[in-house]
Formats: sequence, structure tokens, C-alpha cells
Amino acid sequence: MQAWTMRDIPPQTGKRIVVTGATSGIGYETAKALAGSGAEVILAGRNEEKVDGAMRGIRARYPEARLHFGKLDLADLASVYAFARQMLDDGRPIDCLVNNAGVMAPLRRQETADGFELQFGTNYLGHFALTAKLLPLLRGKRVVSLASLAHRRGRIDFDDLQAARRYSPWRTYAQSKLAMLMFALELQRQSDAADWQIQSIAAHPGWANTDLIANGPASQGGALWAAVRWLAPFFTQSAEAGALPSLYAATAANVPAGSYIGPSGFGEMQGHPKVARIMRRALDEQSSAQLWEISKTLTGAAW
Ligand SMILES: NC(=O)c1ccc[n+]([C@@H]2O[C@H](COP(=O)([O-])OP(=O)(O)OC[C@H]3O[C@@H](n4cnc5c(N)ncnc54)[C@H](OP(=O)(O)O)[C@@H]3O)[C@@H](O)[C@H]2O)c1
Repeated sequence: MQAWTMRDIPPQTGKRIVVTGATSGIGYETAKALAGSGAEVILAGRNEEKVDGAMRGIRARYPEARLHFGKLDLADLASVYAFARQMLDDGRPIDCLVNNAGVMAPLRRQETADGFELQFGTNYLGHFALTAKLLPLLRGKRVVSLASLAHRRGRIDFDDLQAARRYSPWRTYAQSKLAMLMFALELQRQSDAADWQIQSIAAHPGWANTDLIANGPASQGGALWAAVRWLAPFFTQSAEAGALPSLYAATAANVPAGSYIGPSGFGEMQGHPKVARIMRRALDEQSSAQLWEISKTLTGAAW
């Protein structure tokens, strides 16, 4: 694959794209680049003020940007369903849904409004339910789902999916990201079987300098995480570079359906987008189908 950059994003004029978690980091850079390429972008976020700030930032660079706010809290299924209802009432197809929002490794276990463990509930179940509800608008279109290098350390603990018995910030984060990768691959299989004609593509940004640490482990204090935050810019790539795999997955013409895109550099930590390595666990079709069924029951989302 030739080095792919922001300049290679095909014109997006006429396209309508939803990006979750577009207030900062990868989601913000993804929304900005898509809007700059002509797409109409719906920034789906839980905090209207922060989304307004993101829109101002994008318009400062691209004054003609076509941006909308969509109220969406992925840690609350009622909010997910209300957002989806608005989109369905509007009725216009969504050319690409970017399931980007995420929270990483809060030191203490927290729960969503529906009683799910916060990371599993926000990163995975919220996006599972959102995609299911938006399905009528996504037929023949693209869905990009953010996984992580952390999926390599992940295991789906079917006996304790909500980490209620044993919570470990990093293991639980890794489970949520493995679940996202399995979801993306299973979505492609389900789409092929039901002829939804969706192109489902997973992406990961390597290691990018965003607010993920500040909003996660560092949010609960401690000198160690303050130091990690301070040092992060020296050993991570920029959020803009971290958005390239998502942008490639969302816009490149020749990206294979059901693939996983990440940075091409050492350890997939930084660099230009390429097809990324998937751990065998994520390719386990039986576990993926099992997770899909459980997620339907947990969220009440029908496909
Ligand atoms: N940065 C990395 O190195 C890295 C590596 C691997 C994977 N990723 C993945 O990349 C994605 C983006 O993360 P980032 O690094 O850009 O982190 P970030 O800067 O912290 O951005 C996270 C985004 O998710 C949103 N969010 C969190 N909880 C939400 C909820 N309940 N409802 C709606 N939105 C919510 C945040 O919104 P608020 O502004 O409202 O908090 C924010 O817009 C995540 O899925 C993450 O797992 C990142």
C-alpha cells in the first residue's frame, strides 16, 4: 500500500457522515478532515458546549464546513435511541458511521446509566446499539469501528462481561476494544448473510496524543498519570496522524470490506495506514456470534 495521507482523501461533497466522540482527539481530527473534504458531518456527542467548541475549531480552518450537532451519550441507551430516532425521522441515508467515541481505563469501576461497566457499555455496547438502530440508513454504506492495539491483550470474559466480580482498568479496556474489533468483523458477516451491503471496517490509531489518558486513568489523580500525560507528546504521534487509519477506512475506494486498518510503522504505533494485524481471538466466529447475541439481549437492539 502506498503511503496514504490526508491529501488522498477523495472529495466527500454530497456525503453525510456521523462521527461519535468528535469533541477531541481522533474523532475531532476525523470530523475536521471529512468536513474539509466537503462532507456534511454530524458531530455526535454528549456535551453540546464541547461539540460547539469543536465546530468552532473546524470552522476556523474550514469556514464553509457543513456541521451539525447530534446529542448522543453512548453511556445511556435512552440517549442512543433518541439520537437514532432523530436520524431515522430525518430519513436521509448516512454514507458513513464512524464509531469512534471511547473511554479508557478509569482506575475505579464505573457504570453506565443502564448498569453496564463504563468501558464495555460506552465503547462497545453503545456503538452496537447505535449501529443496529441506524441500520435502515446504513444499507449499502460504510461503518468504521475503532478498536486498538489493546485488543491483543483482550479476552471476552463471558462469565463476567461487566467486570462486576473482578475489575481491572486495562483488562476491561482491552476487552471493550477486542469486542469492537469482533463487532466490526461480525457486522460484515451478518451484512453479507442478510444482504445489507454494508462495508464494515475496523481501524486503530496506533498510539496518538489525545485526551484519552486525561479522561481515563489520569482523571482520578496521581503523580504517575500526570507524568505519563506530560511525557506522551514525546513518544506518541499526533491526533491528526492517528486519525489517518479512520479516514482511510471511511473514504478510500479500495479498502477491503471486513478489514482492519492501522498505522504501518514499528509495532503499528505510528505511520501511514495499512491493513493491520488481527489476533486470532478476534477472528473466532463462534465467540463473535455469541457476543453478538448477548449484546442484542443486553441492549434490546434488533437488527
Ligand atoms: N489515542 C490513542 O492512542 C488510541 C489508541 C487506540 C484506540 N483509541 C481509540 O480511539 C477512540 C478515540 O479516542 P481518543 O484517543 O481520541 O480519546 P479522547 O480524546 O479522549 O476522545 C474520546 C471521545 O469520546 C467521547 N466520549 C466518551 N464517552 C462518551 C459517551 N458516553 N458518549 C459520547 N461520547 C463519549 C469524548 O467526548 P467528551 O468530550 O464528551 O468526553 C471524546 O469526544 C477511542 O475509541 C479509543 O479507544 C485511541
